[in-house]
Amino acid sequence: MELELTETQRLIRDTARTFARDVVAPRARDTDRLERFPVDVYRQMGELGLLGVNVPEEYGGAGAGAVSYALAMMEISHACASTSVGMAVTNMSSELICQIGTEAQKRKYVPELVNGKLVAGAFALSEPHAGSDPGAGKTTAVKRGDRWILNGTKQWITSGQYAGVLVVWARTSNDGNKGLSCFLVEKGTAGLSYSKPEDKLGLRGSNTVQVILENVELTDAHLLGKLGDGFKLAMIALDGGRIGIASQACGVARAALEASVKYSKERHAFGHAIGDFQALRFMMADMATSQQAAELLTLRAAFLKDSKRPFTREASMAKLFASEMSNKVCDKAVQIHGGYGYIDEFPVERYLRDARVQTIYEGTSEIQRVVIAREILKAAGA
Ligand code: CAA
Repeated sequence: MELELTETQRLIRDTARTFARDVVAPRARDTDRLERFPVDVYRQMGELGLLGVNVPEEYGGAGAGAVSYALAMMEISHACASTSVGMAVTNMSSELICQIGTEAQKRKYVPELVNGKLVAGAFALSEPHAGSDPGAGKTTAVKRGDRWILNGTKQWITSGQYAGVLVVWARTSNDGNKGLSCFLVEKGTAGLSYSKPEDKLGLRGSNTVQVILENVELTDAHLLGKLGDGFKLAMIALDGGRIGIASQACGVARAALEASVKYSKERHAFGHAIGDFQALRFMMADMATSQQAAELLTLRAAFLKDSKRPFTREASMAKLFASEMSNKVCDKAVQIHGGYGYIDEFPVERYLRDARVQTIYEGTSEIQRVVIAREILKAAGA
């Protein structure tokens, strides 16, 4: 799809596209099969500005905006979704610290997060019993003297074991959503440990762990934002994060479509390339149409974010539509490949496995519908 992009947006997209093609794609199969968390790739992405695309230049970011970020996410995801999910969470964490953090926190963490020195950032919100409802989180932060003592278990933490700094949500009072606060926890802090990585259906090259906090001692310097503001900060960060996951879905689906078009020209049956048959042509027409519709929704949400206009509804619409779309498109891609789609000789089985979580993480499709409906009704009320 060619839209009227600014020079900066084109530059970021092309940088990501070249890096994805030359560095990320050739190793994507091994990243998945051998469950290799790509530390050196993140370091290189840091050097290229891809870990802080929407982070101001004064903190080491590219300062290129949300549309640029979405375009970069689409390109890296086209090559490897295991790699792009860590990229997404690092961008989300560094952006949040930049938006909310004190000057000291920004100077301390953001430049090294976005240049890849800290490898990755992590977003530790969910807990074993609290995924869709983060306000039910039980991890506590109790003040003793000038120390905060954190205890609890965070679940499904992307890049958890590798992240140089983790944004961690903990309960500072029993006041439901208003009792959550947000802390910055550095790798290596005493009392911080991890479960063994989850054995996942897809995104097998990404690292997903429980993060365990046992009497982790922090000070006020680690408190991110105001006491009790944690839930709102999570929602603000997730609005942007959902643009990232929508972009990931668009990238994976585009890769699945391209693989299908190629295969349909190469594979012959009944004396014809299978792409000559209308059954497959119609499938590919639907795949291409819905993939492009998802890109437009995603870029629209990113454009609104760049324009400093409300984009909660649009980010949820993009995430809902793009993630459902990528699951359908990847499923059809396997169908078009027939038996070969079901084995790892072709990449489409990986695309399908990687797409599956997109309707679940950063808010399930059901949660996106809750958000969209609320926003529509709120707007109608106003
Ligand atoms: N921006 C700013 N503020 C917001 C907001 C937003 N988008 N959404 C809600 N808020 C505010 C509300 O205005 C409200 O403020 P007041 O108390 O001042 O009125 C407050 O937050 C509470 O809002 P709600 O009453 O709407 O809260 P709720 O408990 O009903 O929950 C929800 C709403 C949308 C269901 C929310 O819980 C949610 O998004 N759940 C999904 C969580 C999620 O996406 N988790 C993903 C984990 S991270 C991950 O997956 C990362 C990874 O590793 C890939």
